[in-house]
Amino acid sequence: MTRPLLDFDHVEVSFDGTSVVHDVSFPVLEGEVVCIVGESGSGKSTLVRAAMGQLGKRGCVTRGDIWYEGESLPDLPARRMRQLCGSDFALVFQDCLASLTPIRRVADQIFEGMSAHRKVSREECDRLASEMFERLGLDDSKRVLASYPFELSGGMGQRVGIAIALLGEPRVLFADEPTSALDVIAQAQVVELLARVNREWGTTIVLVTHNMAVVEAVADHVLVLRDGIVEEFGTVQQVLQAPAAAYTRELISATPRLVAEGE
Ligand SMILES: Nc1ncnc2c1ncn2[C@@H]1O[C@H](COP(=O)(O)OP(=O)(O)OP(=O)(O)O)[C@@H](O)[C@H]1O
Ligand SMILES: [Mg+2]
Repeated sequence: MTRPLLDFDHVEVSFDGTSVVHDVSFPVLEGEVVCIVGESGSGKSTLVRAAMGQLGKRGCVTRGDIWYEGESLPDLPARRMRQLCGSDFALVFQDCLASLTPIRRVADQIFEGMSAHRKVSREECDRLASEMFERLGLDDSKRVLASYPFELSGGMGQRVGIAIALLGEPRVLFADEPTSALDVIAQAQVVELLARVNREWGTTIVLVTHNMAVVEAVADHVLVLRDGIVEEFGTVQQVLQAPAAAYTRELISATPRLVAEGE
């Protein structure tokens, strides 16, 4: 078996001494898409934030480990973690536009973000951003770059957020509910974009979602969480077609399908 790129190893996460994620273990293999599903409050975002060292002052990994290429992420000095977050890891949120400053053009903000990590001229940055938008099939990259965040639709904003995340050429893209705030058509576009990024660039993706139809469309492996405990972990076929846990069956029956039967 291939060695995991990321390995959650009996992870417990606590806030103010109270554990909210308990004994969670699962591997993330290089080049695959792992989806984390489960109802609100089950600990999905907490796992992502634990991997990225973003649990805040009140939270920490209190047991177990998260391994990345031989490094224990919870034990890393803050400086090394910041370095990894600027190079190997990237994060896409539920509402990428909200994480941008509303009163500054997209291109200015991309430049600011990029120059924090490397020496780059404004022209070079604009060129790289345009190229990335075009590679990702975002039409009209010039207009998008010259826009203020409020001028973009939610779906466009998410695709721009993914493009910005990929400018750092991460090996692992964490995406926390990147489609939850979108209508069905925009959801499908964002899901298709993530699938392309994974397929064409081999970027490993850890995708948090409520939506089993999204899982069906992109996942290789699925982790089902409930109240911070693993209900099951398996291949997408196992989990969707022969779920071991009654809870997984409930989640599946609660989601409308994105892809029609038989496709
Ligand atoms: N900063 C924090 N301080 C205290 N408790 C927190 C903090 N962040 C998360 N929690 C708690 O951890 C548990 C898991 O929360 P988390 O945000 O990981 O859930 P989630 O599965 O991502 O839910 P949702 O689907 O609503 O985003 C919840 O009980 C939550 O209240
Ligand atoms: Mg969450």
